[in-house]
Amino acid sequence: MKKKLIITGASGFLGYHLLRAASAEWEVYGITNSKSFHFKDATAINCDIRNYIELGNFIDDIEPDAIIHAAAIADANFCEQNKDLSYEVNVEATKNLAGICCDFHIPFAFTSSDLVFDGKKGMYKEDAQKNPLSVYGEQKSIAEDEVLRIYPEATVFRLPLMFGFVEASASNYLQKFISQIKNGEKVALFVDEYRSICGARSIAEGILKLLNHSGIIHLAGKERLSRYEFGVKAAKAFQLDEALLLSCSQKDVKMAAPRPADVSLDISKAVSLGFAPQSVDEELKLIADKKYF
Ligand SMILES: NC(=O)c1ccc[n+]([C@@H]2O[C@H](COP(=O)([O-])OP(=O)(O)OC[C@H]3O[C@@H](n4cnc5c(N)ncnc54)[C@H](OP(=O)(O)O)[C@@H]3O)[C@@H](O)[C@H]2O)c1
Repeated sequence: MKKKLIITGASGFLGYHLLRAASAEWEVYGITNSKSFHFKDATAINCDIRNYIELGNFIDDIEPDAIIHAAAIADANFCEQNKDLSYEVNVEATKNLAGICCDFHIPFAFTSSDLVFDGKKGMYKEDAQKNPLSVYGEQKSIAEDEVLRIYPEATVFRLPLMFGFVEASASNYLQKFISQIKNGEKVALFVDEYRSICGARSIAEGILKLLNHSGIIHLAGKERLSRYEFGVKAAKAFQLDEALLLSCSQKDVKMAAPRPADVSLDISKAVSLGFAPQSVDEELKLIADKKYF
């Protein structure tokens, strides 16, 4: 009999990849809120994770063997302008889930972000000093500390900017990028914003593989790329007109949430534990060839 896994944020971008990566080995229950998902090998449960009684009842009924918490308000600009609402979801609901997993004594994976760093150095290791610039990064940082205080055996996965299957989500920037270029629009991309960009399939597989390890783990791509460099790779993979790619600088664009310059992550700890992400080119090719799942 398969063990039971609950995935919060199952209707989201990472959730899409987690459901598919997990279903072969786990009996999967995916929690959704305003949207749903279409995947027959998982059971959908609709619940606002801020409703602790309803959520607790669902978890009691399922009796999970592990929980992966991928629900969040993950739009940094929205968090900047909606601090209280995003705090309820990103911090308070996360604390509640960590407490439940502690009581059940089951693995708990919290999905955090590279944006807990200020981006002044890059190639951050797990024990590097945190200094978030945005409300979203600050909420993730507080939630990390709270998760490990409440349940020291939990796993905090710090994740990079991800790309993935273009049908996964309307808000996936790869999908938007492709349709803009196909429509002949010019797309300006930062040459001075660096991330360890990684395909969401590799990240989902990494979370499942390292679920039983405690503490903070950086899961990201092997390459440190600017947004512009990633755009060139994506344009090549999807055979798009590279002449429509324009380079721009962070200082040219005013956004609600401040943006760090270089939040690339050192993934040597995860690699030593067996994490083996595909390269950006490999994963883009699989998506372009429709061989992703
Ligand atoms: N995408 C990235 O590049 C990236 C980078 C670093 C870290 N992360 C982290 O990875 C995780 C997944 O991100 P993502 O890109 O998949 O985000 P996403 O596509 O925006 O999905 C967010 C998910 O959270 C759910 N959610 C939000 N509020 C909820 C609530 N009150 N109750 C229940 N569910 C709620 C949403 O449900 P509905 O849609 O049904 O409302 C959705 O399933 C997050 O923790 C994020 O911070 C993402």
